[in-house]
Amino acid sequence: MTPPPGIEQRRILKTAIPGPRSAELHARKNTAVSAGVSTGLPVYVERAGGGILVDIDGNQLIDFGSGIAVTTVGNSAPRVVERVQAQVADFTHTCFMITPYAEYVEVAEALNELTPGEHEKRSALFNSGAEAVENAVKIARSYTGRSAIVAFDHAYHGRTNLTMALTAKNMPYKHRFGPFANEIYRVPMAYPYRWPTGPENCADEAFEAFVSQLHAQVGEENTAAVIIEPIQGEGGFIVPPAGYLARVAEWCHDNGVLLIADEIQTGFCRTGDWFACDHEGVVPDLITTAKGIAGGLPLAAVTGRAQVMDAVHGGGLGGTYGGNPVACAGALGAIETMKAEDLPARARAIEALFVPRLREMAAKYPQIGDLRGRGAMLAIELVSDPEAKTPDAGLTAAVNRACHAAGLVTLTAGTYGNVLRFLPPLSITDELLVEGLDILEQAFAASV
Ligand SMILES: Cc1ncc(COP(=O)(O)O)c(C=O)c1O
Repeated sequence: MTPPPGIEQRRILKTAIPGPRSAELHARKNTAVSAGVSTGLPVYVERAGGGILVDIDGNQLIDFGSGIAVTTVGNSAPRVVERVQAQVADFTHTCFMITPYAEYVEVAEALNELTPGEHEKRSALFNSGAEAVENAVKIARSYTGRSAIVAFDHAYHGRTNLTMALTAKNMPYKHRFGPFANEIYRVPMAYPYRWPTGPENCADEAFEAFVSQLHAQVGEENTAAVIIEPIQGEGGFIVPPAGYLARVAEWCHDNGVLLIADEIQTGFCRTGDWFACDHEGVVPDLITTAKGIAGGLPLAAVTGRAQVMDAVHGGGLGGTYGGNPVACAGALGAIETMKAEDLPARARAIEALFVPRLREMAAKYPQIGDLRGRGAMLAIELVSDPEAKTPDAGLTAAVNRACHAAGLVTLTAGTYGNVLRFLPPLSITDELLVEGLDILEQAFAASV
């Protein structure tokens, strides 16, 4: 993929990370911005593109984070820039609910075509992932006339009140923010690495636990929807065993329960296909998307079966900014890029480059307990004792810090804070990927 012009695709360290100008700005941030909004790596960015972030001290960092899986097509991707600039000059807002515009309809048409399943679909656009999830729940309740929503251990669905209830992890997402929305129930996740009786039993036993707990504690006839991330994101890139999702989908279908696939982190080419459900041949009733959809502009969507989406009364869905024309222009530019540059194939190529290197590191460092993920959504889970699988959040933080100091932007994740995750933009060059992996290996050597 051709990186945007103007930014040399090279790591450059001119100062310590963070540099003095970033440190100065960070001091201002601390007196101006709520302490509740923290930053993982306080280098202040001036420009970005390809696989590089340029900070205000002139350092050039390698990006293995994509702003948490958002800039899949790269920052300021040329087709996104072109369409957004033209749209800003034409008009910035009318409110689709008042006087509509073509770009919203075009994004909905693209989503209906690209998401899993050949059935007739409809879409509705929103501003953030959490807002899309909230609306998927509203739609599911409206269509089924039922109230219960079933979510999984290790799930992350957002930070609004309803989505905090769906999110599994207390710190930092839920702590002291309750009470939460009711009629949310939680079942075990099929997490092969940590399945108590071993990964080989995970698919069957997790499915059995899902069915029996849902029956005993909620009741099928009370359940509007089951919501699942096909690969869990913030929970630590947990990939359920092959076939598990399809069994959940079948059970939902047999019981009149809607399946909501939250593909906010996994969607739009990230996992080596357009959507993670595609790998498993799973067709959800509703799918939520955001993040990678619009090349960095805030946009989110719910897409689903026409009869489900159309069951909602007129005026029941919407919002002032939902499907803003500039964000829609960004989405049309991003989707055009994904098609023109065959980005699912690029994500698979990144996996092919990454995984052997990570395997080598895992062979060398027993602290790497598990290596998992798909496409350009890969992670390693770190443990202090490989037998007991004791989570090692301290080592994870140390490796992360060492990567940052060397000019590589990495992110952590996981219920136990012991997962290092890699989400490079698909516009990154192979040279930067290799250099980033070298830095990761050095960070391990320095931290264990
Ligand atoms: C799977 C999933 N769902 C929902 C969300 C919430 O999206 P947003 O932060 O845009 O509200 C996220 C964000 O990380 C996510 O990964």
